[in-house]
Amino acid sequence: MKAPDAVAQVRPLDPPRLPQVPPTAGAESLNTEYYIGNAEQERQAFTAFVRQIHEVQAAQARDNAQETQRGFHAKAHGCVTGWFQLFPDRDPRTRFGVFADGAGPWPVWIRYSNGVGWRQTDNELDARGMAVKLMGVPGPKLIDEEKATQDFLMTNSPTPVGRDGFDFMKFAQANASGKAAGVAFLVSHTKHGGPALLSTLPVSSAVAETYWSGGAFHLGSHQAVKFLAKPCSIAHQRNPQGSGENGLRDDLRAAAKEGFCFNFYLQFQTDAFRTPIEDASREWSEADSPPIPVGRIDVPSQSIDDEKRDAFCKQLSYSPWHGVAAHQPMGHINRARKYVYSASRDYRRGGVEPKDFSIPQENPPHHQQ
Ligand code: HEM
Repeated sequence: MKAPDAVAQVRPLDPPRLPQVPPTAGAESLNTEYYIGNAEQERQAFTAFVRQIHEVQAAQARDNAQETQRGFHAKAHGCVTGWFQLFPDRDPRTRFGVFADGAGPWPVWIRYSNGVGWRQTDNELDARGMAVKLMGVPGPKLIDEEKATQDFLMTNSPTPVGRDGFDFMKFAQANASGKAAGVAFLVSHTKHGGPALLSTLPVSSAVAETYWSGGAFHLGSHQAVKFLAKPCSIAHQRNPQGSGENGLRDDLRAAAKEGFCFNFYLQFQTDAFRTPIEDASREWSEADSPPIPVGRIDVPSQSIDDEKRDAFCKQLSYSPWHGVAAHQPMGHINRARKYVYSASRDYRRGGVEPKDFSIPQENPPHHQQ
């Protein structure tokens, strides 16, 4: 298939446009993001978020008698390795950044997790996460924490909690005051929290869930997308093999022994109202924006039971800002994440960049708090 002329003129690594200053009053437009206030006001709000996430991490460590963990997604079910292969006949519109012609296949580390910032039984209400790290990705990166990675973070809800970073941080603080307060927050914010609340129901297998990006991302300099991963049909043919406290790890162990896979899709922004950038609580429905297949993530048969692997899994750090400009995160909720993820990572003294499938042997780096 040949790319349409307008797309062919955009080079795969062209930088995306900056948010509009000032925002266009009351109007979203295609592929465009808006500062809330202006860049400086956003920076001040995000600096406050950094303090808040440290308070949340400190409170969670104290109240759950645990060492300092991720502000969210503290409990991993396990980490697995695999390959992200691009479909040769993928839509020309998708061929930017790590999906460009000639790119890949990419080796990946994937971490499956529960949503809250403390360890709890898998039977509790919670979101589930799938974080995918592509390795060996060339070119300048959006932030300098990692040199050669592109991360894709997803949860099993098509929308995150809230329309923007302010909503999300209110939820983070409610959650830190106890699970009941977190659920009460979602219930009282059903306009924004409805899909996110439904997605907190217990699940029987992390590899049979669909995972969505929640926020929007640039794709090249001229397009906005969300992304999602759906399990390959094989996931629906197997019986989940775990229950109870660590049922999702038990099931992941069994699935990884057999090998499993996910298909990865992009949803393109179609118009500014049904597929907005700034209001992340507005689901981009498949009717409005059908998922376009890009590639497949294959996890070959492997064992997840290894102390070194678990320690490494804990040290790993994922961020939507680990990556190249062609996939720059968009919208307030994603701009906030540029600050909050690094803050959480530094506070828990995490962060080690994998270069391949081997588990780094050196001591984890220590960061400034
Ligand atoms: C918009 C949709 C979002 C999705 C899909 C998402 C997904 C995820 C996932 C999958 C992880 C686990 C990463 C890992 O395995 O290490 C994670 C971690 C985390 N998330 Fe989010 N998240 C979202 C929004 C947010 C927002 C808005 C904030 C706060 C402003 C936030 C704060 C965090 C923090 C602090 C961590 C832990 C980071 C670390 O210490 O490494 N998330 N998120």
